Amino acid sequence: MATIKFTYLPGDGIGPEVGEAAINVLNAAAGRFGHALDFEEHLIGGAAIDAGLKPLPDESLVSARETGAILLGAVGGPKWDHLKGPDRPELGALLPLRKELNLYANIRPAAPHPALIDKAPLKREYLEGVDFVVMRELTGGIYFGKKGMDNSPSNNISAYDECRYSEAEIRRIAIKAFDLARLRKNKVTSVDKSNVLETSRLWRKIVEDVAKDYADVELEHLLVDAMTMHMLTRGKDFDVILTENMFGDILTDEASVLCGSMGVIPSASLSDGTMGMYEPIHGSAPDIAGQGKANPLAMILSAAWMLRLSFGMEAEAAAIEAGVDAALYGGHTTADLGGSLSTFEVGDWIADHIRSNHAG
Ligand SMILES: NC(=O)c1ccc[n+]([C@@H]2O[C@H](COP(=O)([O-])OP(=O)(O)OC[C@H]3O[C@@H](n4cnc5c(N)ncnc54)[C@H](O)[C@@H]3O)[C@@H](O)[C@H]2O)c1
Repeated sequence: MATIKFTYLPGDGIGPEVGEAAINVLNAAAGRFGHALDFEEHLIGGAAIDAGLKPLPDESLVSARETGAILLGAVGGPKWDHLKGPDRPELGALLPLRKELNLYANIRPAAPHPALIDKAPLKREYLEGVDFVVMRELTGGIYFGKKGMDNSPSNNISAYDECRYSEAEIRRIAIKAFDLARLRKNKVTSVDKSNVLETSRLWRKIVEDVAKDYADVELEHLLVDAMTMHMLTRGKDFDVILTENMFGDILTDEASVLCGSMGVIPSASLSDGTMGMYEPIHGSAPDIAGQGKANPLAMILSAAWMLRLSFGMEAEAAAIEAGVDAALYGGHTTADLGGSLSTFEVGDWIADHIRSNHAG
């Protein structure tokens, strides 16, 4: 018996709804395997602002650092869109959380579920056999570089965002990508823009250097503009796609199209060791918040990843994933996937599935 101690940050919009479903499922998995669930719930994003706090309150950050495992819903929404810079939920909560916890490696999968292939906007032939992950550098590059606005002369304002990468930043994410490829299909595709950008030229040089220690892993390089096409037309050729922060942001959203629905894709943002933050790739979906319509599967799968990657609980994670599989094959889903269940009912169905398998 172990104690699963983590920080739960429900956030805004549908975050608390999909979070409630995931906590229900985690309780079922903990019960089945004889573990104790022990989580600290804290405010983040707009919910923290509404309570008169910063978007990332100190106690939320302290708890996240202490537990080393964070389950996050989503932050932001139109209510806080008038706020500027670090006062905004997205800039003031997500970016500092990633930076403060050194969560430099973001992983998102792209593997269309067989039950969803016909719901994706692409033809079946482009989807079958696709199974890759994007390893995105998350704490460097243009999002964290010097930025500013120059108002002089006032008739031609200019703005700038600096993109900078150090050798150490590139090396540690490349090592993570090659290590992951060894557990999968032994291939890394590194994506850059080395025909134009100096940071990309350094990126390619360091990735090639790291590759020398992984003779068993195939390495290919692709330019990011070409990759946007290759990902959709020959997605099945990829295994681990390694890229920098902004390219990864764009490519991972494109990859979500291969999966049929945003509502089924989890993500992990990892540091060294077992420190990790787990969240669905979708946002706070303000258009459906509070209506019980949100699909909780991405959040439930994120909880499974937390068990696997931060707690080393492979069987527990697999039991949750088997429950999600069964829900998808059986059509026990929310309306976005053609079902008629509410957010909580989907979680409850999966929780029951996990418990009843135990009894059987
Ligand atoms: N990591 C994060 O916290 C994060 C990520 C992305 C966007 N956001 C924020 O979320 C807010 C809304 O952003 P957006 O509308 O561009 O993206 P979104 O992902 O919230 O929603 C896009 C569309 O997908 C639908 N959708 C999303 N998740 C769903 C789910 N689980 N089930 C069913 N349908 C779902 C929404 O209803 C909407 O129509 C913004 O404030 C944005 O900044 C936060």
